[in-house]
Amino acid sequence: MEIVVLSDPNAVADFAAARVCELLDGKPAAVLGLATGNTPLRLYAKLVELHRAAKISFREVRTFNLDEYLGVAPDDPQSYRSYMQRELFAKVDIDVSNTYLPVCGEHDDPRDASADYEGRIRDAGGIDLQVLGIGRNGHIGFNEPTSSLASRTRVKTLTADTVAANSRLFGEGERQPDMAMTMGIATILDSRYAMLLATGTEKARAVGAAIEGAVSAMCPASALQLHPNASFILDEAAAAELAGIEHYRSVHAENSRLTTKFGFF
Ligand code: GLP
Repeated sequence: MEIVVLSDPNAVADFAAARVCELLDGKPAAVLGLATGNTPLRLYAKLVELHRAAKISFREVRTFNLDEYLGVAPDDPQSYRSYMQRELFAKVDIDVSNTYLPVCGEHDDPRDASADYEGRIRDAGGIDLQVLGIGRNGHIGFNEPTSSLASRTRVKTLTADTVAANSRLFGEGERQPDMAMTMGIATILDSRYAMLLATGTEKARAVGAAIEGAVSAMCPASALQLHPNASFILDEAAAAELAGIEHYRSVHAENSRLTTKFGFF
């Protein structure tokens, strides 16, 4: 695991955007796994900026999002599809027909919708770079604690803690869903590179458990310990509970010398 501790959320976004840029430079038709939530907003803003400066193109890119609420129509402003349109897709040169979210319509059998999503990812050749955030309880995507580490795309019921954490995004009178379809943990582990971004003190405990705790279904992000090429890109606040922080800083300094010379991908 690569553990990168940076000064603040802007530095996290810059670092992550540079990784996306480097990937697309070498592979313009890359497949990106995307996340929603507050954390990646700065990353998407940075990617839009780079696109406007003609430094990055999404023309040949395909994307697969981690999750989508169940029973929320794509054009509902609260859907993750709307979020992606607003924050990234409508602002860059991506072909929207190459962007996918795990959607399960009201009349769809969730098992068919899940298998369909897994099949689409496989047909695209797998995910080259998966962006992840982390929930306060250690969830990735909507894989809540006790999610099987071997899980595939499926419907999950959100925990009360996750519903509470996300309630800030819903206005008064707006129905907040408590179910979602999410990529599974095994699906995430199949990505060729996974990049988990975390900022702020409220993530420090989950980040500590994911990196330095045991691999456990109780902390789904700890499954990244099984990923052959995963990075945790953290700001100081999110890294505050890491016992080995000084070691990670020196390893990162050494690694940076190598990646500057030879590239990361
Ligand atoms: C949400 C999403 C996750 C996200 C996490 C953290 O519920 N399903 O993909 O990473 O919770 O969100 P935030 O970045 O807003 O803290």
